[in-house]
Amino acid sequence: MSFKNLKPEISVIVASNHLSTDQKLTKVCELLQEKVSYYTWVGFYFANKAEKTLHLKAFAGDPTEHTVIPFGKGICGQVAVSNTNFVVPDVKAQDNYIACSITVKAEIVIPLFKDGKNIGQIDIDSNTANPFTEADERFLEWVNEEVAGILS
Ligand code: SME
Repeated sequence: MSFKNLKPEISVIVASNHLSTDQKLTKVCELLQEKVSYYTWVGFYFANKAEKTLHLKAFAGDPTEHTVIPFGKGICGQVAVSNTNFVVPDVKAQDNYIACSITVKAEIVIPLFKDGKNIGQIDIDSNTANPFTEADERFLEWVNEEVAGILS
């Protein structure tokens, strides 16, 4: 499904009165993982700034043992400190990378800002090599802005 068609579905989820914030986050992950063919695993991590760790709050795809990631470690941990998008076309080419599954070939991590602060991120793994374009970056930035609106 195209990003243009997915946007209204995301908006419906975040506006749902009968869902908790955690349920909304999980549904967003499930929708993206189900509808974008090359999104194999989708998750939201949020930062504990005092502890300098990221914590997995919602995901779709196989469970991961990496539910807590220190700032600076892996692609996710690097984005926690860089505040910028990180697109990895080939995970094998990264030396600071935490492998969740041997089938993963590529990854994209987009920081999530609330009131200008980097409070977390959306992390997507792909079993397809080099699948991400600038369209994914713009779309996922938009998703994170929508999600930021429901976070306190
Ligand atoms: N690969 C990530 C770790 C999280 S898993 O992809 C779910 C990283 O290097 O930070």
